[in-house]
Amino acid sequence: MPLFDLVIRNGRVATGSDEFLADIGIKDGHITALGEIPSKGTREIDATDKLVLPGGVDAHCHLDQPSGDGIKMADDFVTGPRSAAFGGTTTILPFACQEKGQSLRAAVTDYHARAAGKSVIDFAFHLIVTDPTAQVIGQELPALIRDGYTSFKIYMTYDDLKLNDRQILDVLDLARREDALTMIHAENADCISWLTDKLVQEGHTAPKYHAQARPPLVEREATQRAIALAELIDVPMLVVHVSGPEAIEQIRNAQSRGLKIFGETCPQYLFMTMDDLDLDGFEGAKHICSPPPRDASSQKQVWNALLNDTLKIFSSDHAPFRYEGGDGKKHAGELASFEHVPNGIPGLETRLPLLFSEGVVSGRMSLNRFVRLTATNPAKLYGLYPRKGTIAIGSDADLAIWDPQKEVTIRNEDLHHAVDYTPYEGRIVTGWPETVLSRGEIIIQDGHLHAASGRGEFLRCAAPMTADL
Ligand code: URP
Ligand code: ZN
Ligand code: ZN
Repeated sequence: MPLFDLVIRNGRVATGSDEFLADIGIKDGHITALGEIPSKGTREIDATDKLVLPGGVDAHCHLDQPSGDGIKMADDFVTGPRSAAFGGTTTILPFACQEKGQSLRAAVTDYHARAAGKSVIDFAFHLIVTDPTAQVIGQELPALIRDGYTSFKIYMTYDDLKLNDRQILDVLDLARREDALTMIHAENADCISWLTDKLVQEGHTAPKYHAQARPPLVEREATQRAIALAELIDVPMLVVHVSGPEAIEQIRNAQSRGLKIFGETCPQYLFMTMDDLDLDGFEGAKHICSPPPRDASSQKQVWNALLNDTLKIFSSDHAPFRYEGGDGKKHAGELASFEHVPNGIPGLETRLPLLFSEGVVSGRMSLNRFVRLTATNPAKLYGLYPRKGTIAIGSDADLAIWDPQKEVTIRNEDLHHAVDYTPYEGRIVTGWPETVLSRGEIIIQDGHLHAASGRGEFLRCAAPMTADL
């Protein structure tokens, strides 16, 4: 009986800190040997001239999340995880969103029902807390944290989601008591609604005005306020989808004062600008997300913040709405005012290839930094490390074997999500994950899916490893 179910030979292995030539031996879904492996496995993969990286951990994506008003997310727990896998991601953390008035436990039960038997890769849930009642703070959240839901997102904007500062303090205080992580969407709601009303009254309703309704200062102010609230409670916090230098400056300043404030950014802030909101006709709606993409100089500063460790996590913020049809970007009509266009863009499958190409291949960032940003750091922050996010003895054999030279033109027709567009249509990238393994099983090879929906397991997260980041 061979010692290994699978041996990956001669690959250039990279983790968040090391890079070396090695064979990888896999048994029962785990990595059991690393180095020169003399014995043959039941199966073998030749990875000569290839990179073997930890499968990506995408710690911010929205799947099958009810959005109200006849709006429907295009991706569910079949298509979203499948698309992620084709892009080299083997773990995702979507959200279980509480509706105001709903119990959090009921929300979690609902999302488990949505996910049951569907995902091809492993997944955990963040919670979205929209109604932090005494019952939620005192009983439901502590119990859910113990059950492995150790992170929750809260919003400072969107009428049906936002919390006021007092409620934010309650959530942060609970996070400190129970050793959980709060993720915050930082934009000033009143400024946005005031600016939106003014723009609409003036007849400025085209998609490009989305960026004017949410200028950098509304993100800066909210980021600064959120940091002050976390400082008051003395608790770590992650600012999600940071779009530009104004918010980055607040985070950097907090970090330089010794606060455990973390920052996440997303492809849209490196690869899109506000000019994309001004495409012909209604096309700009394809790029509407919040915070909005900024200008070219902001993009540079987001790159810098990834390179100088101010921002530690790179997630897709996949929020999948179709362009055509009546349940996505155009649900309020062909030329609806920007404030009625659902916010969010797709990106699960393109997240890693975009950053690999423009980061690693272009020479901007080391391979180790790429791995840290896209796999190791999110696994640590969300309590999944070292099971996920690295290549080490005992870790799950979640691996992506990359052809670092493969040139790919991104075309929506080649992607595997259920959205009818990608904002990156026509962009050429170098490097693509060709073979993807989840717990030792080859799930993607030769451009095909080789695994069944539903094989993915639900992951219970441990406490965030913030000391290590
Ligand atoms: O526009 C965005 N980012 N939509 C997704 C929801 C969120 O706030 O992350
Ligand atoms: Zn958000
Ligand atoms: Zn999001």
